[in-house]
Amino acid sequence: MKVNPLPAIRTPTDCLWLDDLSTAVLVTDENLRLLAINSAAEVLLGLSRERVVGGPLGHWLRLDRHLGTQLQQALQREQPVTLRARRLKPLRAPEFLADLVLSPLHAEDSSGRLLLELTAIDRQQRISREDQLRQQQAISRAVTRGLAHEIKNPLGGLRGAAQLLASELDDPGLREYTGIIIREADRLRSLVDRMLGPSNLPRRHEVNLHEVMEHVRGLVSVQLPLGLRVTADYDPSIPDIVADRDMLVQAILNLVQNAIQALGDHGEIRLVSRILRQYTISGKRHRLVARLRIRDNGPGIPDEIRERIFFPMVTGRAAGTGLGLPIAQSLVQLNNGLIECHSRPGRTDFDVLLPLETAS
Ligand SMILES: Nc1ncnc2c1ncn2[C@@H]1O[C@H](COP(=O)(O)OP(=O)(O)OP(=O)(O)O)[C@@H](O)[C@H]1O
Ligand SMILES: [Mg+2]
Repeated sequence: MKVNPLPAIRTPTDCLWLDDLSTAVLVTDENLRLLAINSAAEVLLGLSRERVVGGPLGHWLRLDRHLGTQLQQALQREQPVTLRARRLKPLRAPEFLADLVLSPLHAEDSSGRLLLELTAIDRQQRISREDQLRQQQAISRAVTRGLAHEIKNPLGGLRGAAQLLASELDDPGLREYTGIIIREADRLRSLVDRMLGPSNLPRRHEVNLHEVMEHVRGLVSVQLPLGLRVTADYDPSIPDIVADRDMLVQAILNLVQNAIQALGDHGEIRLVSRILRQYTISGKRHRLVARLRIRDNGPGIPDEIRERIFFPMVTGRAAGTGLGLPIAQSLVQLNNGLIECHSRPGRTDFDVLLPLETAS
């Protein structure tokens, strides 16, 4: 197979066309020095183009000798080589499993070039897990809706009958009992309504995501224990999005309240915003996505519920109803986004991912 010549790469900007690819792509010269790196690779490897171009690939990818030799050999070949399921330990990002395609290319001056395509296998698994989760949530929502309907009708009758009975009773002691029936019926109704989740369609306007985060920070700051801090680290370049502000406030409030409850009297909650490039949400690839991260240094999500926290009625707290997270997830999904969670003792991240532009 004849390998196609690579368009000239004299400056890193000659490679901007690579940014349209969702696969992480890096190009090196024959000494494995980086000539170009696309946006997907910047995100995957935690690198910035300005810093790494010109430097040795081995340094930023922390290549072991074996892989380094395979890259050198690939440069000598005529055909692309695929390396499956290699564990990479990049200097600036968590390690991950990846498939690598190494394609030797010939530049105009006939010096060697190597084009590396990296596909993170963990990320593919994340997407299929996300699909599975979405289906399970849809089933659980359908069951909840059916159940809620069956509960609400007789509950209305029960409440009405208790009110009629109360009007017939002279004895205040007996009226106390009807009062209990009415109050409990109301409590059950509001629980069922919460289980049903948001009933309105989003009312979309221009929303500043940092205003949303700061609003939530203000709301919770009045009830914070002394030993608990909420800090903020925002990327000011994130543009406004078109979304339902109140829904986002409610979703983020639920997440921050969970973090406060998990921390108890001491700890730190960090509100962080960043832009991600080429990110897939619910099967759609987006060029730019805002990630609003709520991080706490509490005990982490208990193992036994970790896989189910987005389902209704799953709680690890004695006083919890287990509705905060499924509601937050529905609210964010109504705004075309997704909440993801990563948790271990000492570090729990809830990420609200919201597309910054329409899917490509
Ligand atoms: N930041 C966190 N750290 C540790 N555990 C968490 C965190 N956020 C959520 N959890 C766990 O997930 C469970 C489910 O959270 P969710 O908000 O859905 O319900 P809840 O907080 O128990 O009740 P509700 O929000 O309805 O009052 C919590 O009970 C808790 O065990
Ligand atoms: Mg909660």
